[in-house]
Amino acid sequence: MRQSPTPNSHSSIEQSRHLLVTGGAGFIGSNFVHYWCDRYPQDRIVVLDLLSYAGNRRNLEAVEEKENFRFVQGDICDRTLVDALLKAEKIDTIAHFAAESHVDRSILGPEAFVRTNVLGTSTLLEAFRQHWQKRKGKKNENAGGRGNAFRFLHISSDEVFGSLGSDDPPFTETTPYSPNSPYAASKAGSDHLVRAYHHTYGLPTLITNCSNNYGSFQFPEKLIPLMCINILMGKSLPIYGDGQNVRDWLYVGDHCRALDLVIQQGIPGETYNIGGNNEVKNIDLVQMVCQLMDELAPNLPVSPASQLITFVKDRPGHDRRYAIDATKIKTQLGWTPQETIQEGLRRTVEWYLTHQEWWKPLLSEDYQAYYRKIYA
Ligand code: NAD
Ligand code: TYD
Repeated sequence: MRQSPTPNSHSSIEQSRHLLVTGGAGFIGSNFVHYWCDRYPQDRIVVLDLLSYAGNRRNLEAVEEKENFRFVQGDICDRTLVDALLKAEKIDTIAHFAAESHVDRSILGPEAFVRTNVLGTSTLLEAFRQHWQKRKGKKNENAGGRGNAFRFLHISSDEVFGSLGSDDPPFTETTPYSPNSPYAASKAGSDHLVRAYHHTYGLPTLITNCSNNYGSFQFPEKLIPLMCINILMGKSLPIYGDGQNVRDWLYVGDHCRALDLVIQQGIPGETYNIGGNNEVKNIDLVQMVCQLMDELAPNLPVSPASQLITFVKDRPGHDRRYAIDATKIKTQLGWTPQETIQEGLRRTVEWYLTHQEWWKPLLSEDYQAYYRKIYA
């Protein structure tokens, strides 16, 4: 079974891809940049990232010096900047990660989500459409005769499908959209725009809807890093509601491999669900993190760490269960997740344990103010 494309399989006509990676300084975007630089060193990668609170230039330290890499700090809503980058860098592929991504923040302030996730995606789509229409017929440019090489990959979420009951079948690509949080609604809006650009203009778009990711470089506000950091600091571990909510966890490296396959071999206009086949209740996941920290971390302030678990007021509108049916990407593109939750979580816990110099500076005044608002 194919697990990922053969390196260079996309550049059979001696041409390299020129990628614009939006949000490449965030969690999944930076993991994707590392993955791509390792796998396709001949490709040009331009990261466009606003460096919002969630963006971190340090996530890209390992690739900053590479000849084929460029970092641009800027906003995906800035049409002039986007137009200039597409042209100057002869971009043929956009991997669009940039977003406001945290549900709790979307409950505190939805406008930023509408701006970046909906308007930002709309700006990128329109800029890319005009760029593609000008360049798609040209030979001997970056596309190098690969007239079909242009791709707009929109990285989206399973949260657009809403919440499942305990006996419901997992989400498929044809599950109706039913977003519940402002975050999910803004991602749903952006998905619809991407779909419409393919339907109306024939723009070669691809959409992926992925379940919860975990791994290195994830900002401290999300469940797994939050639990790792709080255990190391001896702070309470806040679990919303009864802790029985279920998420389908996927290791970020598996996600990156799936995105690679979708860019190289996905059919324009199609959407692909990506999931870990790995449903876990929040309370069980947090218990696993506690046990790993007990085993791996010397001298924890509170041990066993599970003593820190505290049930707190539920998130408003908290979706009960997400689960992905990834049959389509498995049968059509040969992708399956390779990391088990036990191993992936162990690597992740070790990473937070050994990278305190990465996360400590992120616990800024602004972050503390956010924390107090959510967990007061
Ligand atoms: P993240 O919050 O860690 O990173 C988002 C990045 O986007 C940051 O670097 C930020 O600076 C940048 N950004 C924000 N607004 C911007 C703007 N206006 N212009 C340019 N850059 C901007 O998010 P993540 O967890 O890496 O998620 C990446 C994408 O994957 C998002 O689109 C998200 O919806 C989607 N997704 C995430 C998960 C998950 O579990 N984290 C699961 C499925 C899908
Ligand atoms: P999160 O990482 O915010 O991802 P999402 O809301 O996109 O699924 O949260 C994962 C789950 O963990 C979700 O059910 C909410 C829950 N959660 C807590 O119980 N406590 C917390 O402090 C956080 C951040 C999340």
